[in-house]
Amino acid sequence: MPDRNRRVVLAERPSGMVDGRTVRMEEEDVPVPAAGEALAQVRYLSIDPTIRTWMDDAPGYLPPIAIGEVIRSGGVAEVLHSNCDSYSPGQLLFGLTGWQDYVIADDAERAMQPLPEGVSPTTALGVLGITGMTAYFGLLDVGRIKEGDTVVVSGAAGATGSTVGQIAKIKGAGTAVGIAGGPSKCAWIVDELGFDVAIDYKSSNVSERLRELCPQGIDLYFDNVGGEILDACLANLAMRGRVVLCGAISGYNDPNARGPANYLSLLIRRGRMEGFIILDYVDRFPQAQAEMAGWLASGQIKSAEHVVEGLEHAPDALNLLFTGGNTGKVMVRV
Ligand SMILES: NC(=O)c1ccc[n+]([C@@H]2O[C@H](COP(=O)([O-])OP(=O)(O)OC[C@H]3O[C@@H](n4cnc5c(N)ncnc54)[C@H](OP(=O)(O)O)[C@@H]3O)[C@@H](O)[C@H]2O)c1
Repeated sequence: MPDRNRRVVLAERPSGMVDGRTVRMEEEDVPVPAAGEALAQVRYLSIDPTIRTWMDDAPGYLPPIAIGEVIRSGGVAEVLHSNCDSYSPGQLLFGLTGWQDYVIADDAERAMQPLPEGVSPTTALGVLGITGMTAYFGLLDVGRIKEGDTVVVSGAAGATGSTVGQIAKIKGAGTAVGIAGGPSKCAWIVDELGFDVAIDYKSSNVSERLRELCPQGIDLYFDNVGGEILDACLANLAMRGRVVLCGAISGYNDPNARGPANYLSLLIRRGRMEGFIILDYVDRFPQAQAEMAGWLASGQIKSAEHVVEGLEHAPDALNLLFTGGNTGKVMVRV
């Protein structure tokens, strides 16, 4: 049995990006599973922008991470030792593992779920996990995509956005426009993923480009970033256009982040803007995962994974999401 558990805890609340003062690595004895529990070793962490929002002392859809508490995070862990019927050694589990080496899986809570047969840990955290489900339900359920729609996606080379664009094409989008930072990300989403066209927001005027590329307006905007890009999309909304509020990463490091200025476009164009939290869709995951697995197997969906090595590099991995240093889903291999 291992004897030490490394855990990354919140040392102080960040202002802006996470830095050396934000977190601290601690060690403790490896927890001993009681009756009805199993001990699992964390293999992969899912690195999500929302982790940064949990570090703030602000109201959210989950409580803030407390000072001194292990950083909350999804992950995949392998059962080492079990004192319950549900979990057996060697089994891979998905759940809130936290940024640490070992986690206790409690049979009564059932918060840790076995991975489906044949699904790799990185796929379970990426396209068949929360990320892929966010793309799927955000686009289909909240966005109610229709054939022929002009769809615009921001964060288009990221984990969620790259999947949204591909599903939009499968579902018959007339045009899928991706907004991403830099020429190589823009080339990748068009050449490899099948977006019709890309806008490099770092080197072009997004509003002007949208006017050129979407002359009839945007039917569906899937927003991952908020800020000025959201305003540009609102300004170019089609009649009865829909805006899916998935995230607003441009504001997560900014305590003074403001909402959109162009919201009256919704009124003028009879539009709709709706937010969602993917946790509300968990009951419907199996059907969506089955459909997604089919697209993955047939090559209609490609997934990109950006794996960072080592628990101690989890804070750097989180920052990649904000510097745009990632293409596709960021994970840490513990
Ligand atoms: N509603 C939900 O339930 C739910 C669930 C999961 C995720 N989300 C949200 O979905 C969004 C994407 O998450 P993800 O995990 O898929 O991350 P991701 O897209 O893989 O990574 C974030 C990307 O955001 C872009 N970005 C960072 N700062 C930006 C800025 N100031 N302006 C424009 N783009 C910026 C970067 O790409 P560039 O290089 O292109 O700038 C970066 O690669 C986030 O807002 C997240 O909070 C919501």
